[in-house]
Amino acid sequence: MEKGRSVTDTSADESQSFADLGKILVIIPTYNEAENVARITSRVRASVPEAHILVADDNSPDGTGKLADELAAADDHIQVMHRRGKEGLGAAYLAGFRWGIEQGYDVLVEMDADGSHQPEQLPRLLTALLGGADLVLGSRWVPGGSAVNWPKYREFISRGGSTYSRLMLGVPLRDVTGGYRAFRKETLLGLGMDEVASQGYCFQVDLAWRAVRAGFTVVEVPITFIERELGASKMSRTIVVEALVRVTGWGVRNRLGRLPAPNAAAPNAGAPKAGARNTPAASDVDPNAGANEAAQ
Ligand code: GDD
Ligand code: MN
Repeated sequence: MEKGRSVTDTSADESQSFADLGKILVIIPTYNEAENVARITSRVRASVPEAHILVADDNSPDGTGKLADELAAADDHIQVMHRRGKEGLGAAYLAGFRWGIEQGYDVLVEMDADGSHQPEQLPRLLTALLGGADLVLGSRWVPGGSAVNWPKYREFISRGGSTYSRLMLGVPLRDVTGGYRAFRKETLLGLGMDEVASQGYCFQVDLAWRAVRAGFTVVEVPITFIERELGASKMSRTIVVEALVRVTGWGVRNRLGRLPAPNAAAPNAGAPKAGARNTPAASDVDPNAGANEAAQ
């Protein structure tokens, strides 16, 4: 399997066992998803019964956290992390990853609560992990992937964001902002989670790029992203601006050779990577560069 290439053969056997992957945790961040939380958790439970679920709720005013507590009380595969308030998708995922790793999970999955990421396609992502990937991206923009019912402007932002990131960062991926992903624990531990400061959807670009730079095998599998039917998107102008500013900053610093490599634990970390251009050699890296950003 090659890095950055899409895997088109995703004919996952639905009855397949993912026992070889170890313990699986699906993290679902929520902010005002009261209409969606019961539906998404039951679909995950039906699709991959051995997987556990962590709902990471940012104290949603609409009572999503309480509903999630009721679901957790009725099912030992569901747990809830109650966070103080809305701190963005990135912070919720980082807290979920840390908790999951502490609890002994081997695979950590990112999934939206609103049904856009179909739990029925989770076996595809897990199958690619079994095939040797360190990080699997559910991808709308590889052959076989698509976005259904998405407004044109959202598709434009998503495709544009991926293209811009590919050019600025040299990251050889088609859907770098997507949020349907499966990580091996070792991948998260090797990409320097403690320095991730991105909050909004830019968090997704940050993590994918870190994984590529650290030498991990990142594989895209096609998904059908279906726009939510219930509730509202949390996408905002601030989130797009954050992504634009950060990606531009990383790209410029990368070109100047001033970006520290992630604290990589990947087997081939530090080695030049196919498709990832302008990656500074480990010896060129100033370990203090980026410290300010990390501390923000
Ligand atoms: N805990 C928490 N805190 N959850 C949040 C927050 C937050 O501040 N902001 C959003 N979420 C949750 C939502 O409740 C939902 O479960 C998920 O994150 C995605 O949010 P949406 O608002 O539905 O995102 P979208 O549909 O506009 O964006 C999609 O496309 C982005 C760009 O490709 C998602 O797939 C994103 O993951 C993706 O990055
Ligand atoms: Mn959504």
